[in-house]
Amino acid sequence: MNAPLKEQFLTLQEIYEAAKRNLPPGPWSYLIGGAETETTVRRNRHALDSIAFRPRVLRNVSRVDVSGKFLGKATRLPVMLAPIGGLESIVEGGAATAARGAAAFGVPQMLSSVCQPGLEQTAAAADTVRVFQLYVRGDDAWVDDFVRRAKDNAFTAFCFTVDVAAYSRRERDLLGRYVKPWRAKATEGADFQSGLSWDQVKRFKDKYSGKHSMPLIIKGIATVEDAEIAVEHGVEVVYVSNHGGRQLDHGLGSAAVLPEIVAAVKGKAEVWVDGGFMRGTDVVKAIALGAKTVGLGRLTGLALAAAGAPGLVRALEILEDEVRICLGLLGVTSFAELTPRHLAPAPAVGDAEIFSAFPHAQE
Ligand SMILES: Cc1cc2nc3c(=O)[nH]c(=O)nc-3n(C[C@H](O)[C@H](O)[C@H](O)COP(=O)(O)O)c2cc1C
Repeated sequence: MNAPLKEQFLTLQEIYEAAKRNLPPGPWSYLIGGAETETTVRRNRHALDSIAFRPRVLRNVSRVDVSGKFLGKATRLPVMLAPIGGLESIVEGGAATAARGAAAFGVPQMLSSVCQPGLEQTAAAADTVRVFQLYVRGDDAWVDDFVRRAKDNAFTAFCFTVDVAAYSRRERDLLGRYVKPWRAKATEGADFQSGLSWDQVKRFKDKYSGKHSMPLIIKGIATVEDAEIAVEHGVEVVYVSNHGGRQLDHGLGSAAVLPEIVAAVKGKAEVWVDGGFMRGTDVVKAIALGAKTVGLGRLTGLALAAAGAPGLVRALEILEDEVRICLGLLGVTSFAELTPRHLAPAPAVGDAEIFSAFPHAQE
């Protein structure tokens, strides 16, 4: 019989190793890969690896509170499962399994519109705090129908992913001749996706404010200019992301653009971030820079591939331990006490790779 997960996985890198053992080559390349040269993917890590801590001492950290706030609700950590399409190719039960893990641990899930078993069944699977992410591949009535279904199923906010005007070339998949089973469907509605503009954001905000309110998250903001336009449109969340380096190659790392976007938003919206966040220290850096929530993309996929919903819980427990240690060693007793003064720029100590957060992992 297998040892309990608490003994099997003492570190996140063992979770990475188990995921790699469990997944066939196609789904593995789909999960970990990025666009073209994967420079953006590596820059996400490089940006995080180029931030050092400035610890404060003698501050009585015998009790450290690691909880976060997600759209006003308390969460066990200030992280959420980032939306992942095609999770059903990574773990049995797909998004429903992810929902069960998120609920068991106590973090929110952002459900992707291109993930099985779909909105209603995922909502029914577990009582998570959940928000819904849409790729806009239809007209206004099509979008409205998703909003209605999201409301009916207790999703508390709606997200447009906007960094997908063109579908990128994922070379690991191409080289491995891996054709995603859901890819044919993804091309339906591609014209709507490339035609998306701020007009649709305005229409959404006009329609779903006040009595019919549905908070809007814009995912895929990578510049100050667009963050400012998003704020002018009254969006509730500016989600800084480059899609984990899976869309535009040669972008900047998310953690590198986060500070200027936080400054530009001036507290008029929440700022969330993702891209390369794999460790407790990464999460702490994001919050110190002014993000409210950190999205976990590949780490979610790895944990689910390693051991399903319990694997996700175990990964989050390890992340939580890392966060608690980091906050204590920085001399703060909660995320609220963190400031950019706890950070300093520093040269990265090694080459950034997708998984350079796991330097001891056995391939
Ligand atoms: C396998 C996979 C599938 C993804 N599918 C979606 C999706 O359906 N919708 C979306 O907005 N982002 C999607 N993303 C991007 C993630 O939401 C997130 O932005 C990214 O993974 C963060 O970077 P990280 O993987 O380094 O944590 C996907 C990412 C991965 C790895």
